[in-house]
Amino acid sequence: MSAPATGDTTAGRARISARTLRTDRWWVPPLFTTMGLAAFVIYAGIRSFVRTAYYVPEYHYLTPFYSPCLSDSCVPGSSHFGTPIGALPGWIPLAFLSLPFLLGFRLTCYYYRKAYYRSVWFSPPACAVAEPHGRYTGETRLPLILQNAHRYFFYAAFLISIINTYDAVIAFHGRTGGFGFGLGNLVLAGNVIMLWAYTLSCHSCRHVVGGRLKHFSRHPVRYWLWTQVTRLNNRHMLLAWITLGTLVVTDLYVMLVASGAFPDPRFVD
Ligand code: FES
Repeated sequence: MSAPATGDTTAGRARISARTLRTDRWWVPPLFTTMGLAAFVIYAGIRSFVRTAYYVPEYHYLTPFYSPCLSDSCVPGSSHFGTPIGALPGWIPLAFLSLPFLLGFRLTCYYYRKAYYRSVWFSPPACAVAEPHGRYTGETRLPLILQNAHRYFFYAAFLISIINTYDAVIAFHGRTGGFGFGLGNLVLAGNVIMLWAYTLSCHSCRHVVGGRLKHFSRHPVRYWLWTQVTRLNNRHMLLAWITLGTLVVTDLYVMLVASGAFPDPRFVD
């Protein structure tokens, strides 16, 4: 039998010349994953640079794609933490301090790794389907060795979730000051709750709260926390996709209200 053209050719592996013997539609999940991730990346990329309709001054709604907004280039009122940074040229996103960490958090996430290793890098594209690469080096070299930085991105994402929570809380703001409450608050709060669920369901978080322990019985609080995080962790993939959706919906909602295309329904104004 001739040597396989693709896939792992390590001695001892089965020498199968066909790329795969699977006859089912194994390519459907990677295809949908690619389409979903590409749609989010394109949307988020465009919105992060356009600098329009990202803040609703009447209600203090700020889209998460522009938080924290720390530059003199931010529209008045959107800088919830002041403007320690001067004006920024148009090619730098106003949330340039948080976006790289959020991107790093998602890119190095254990679930997203599985998703794009299969759907983008075909390493491998599916079970029992040979990858096009001649060698497999795993995450032992650049750039994939950087995946080991995931725990640090988790710490940053945790801080950014606190900032997003603050943004959502101060958005309970009436048109003329004081307390106000509209549909936008439900959208912002829902997004923050799901972001927390995703962040806390992280495998690194699970390790932080319950790792390196020899005896759970001697650490009842950490054991309880670990069981709660584990429950979320079981749904990590689902939460990863839900939060991509809630981020887009929240940004879209703020954009529609800020641009005047949609009047925010108010319950308390
Ligand atoms: Fe997915 Fe940490 S493993 S966010």
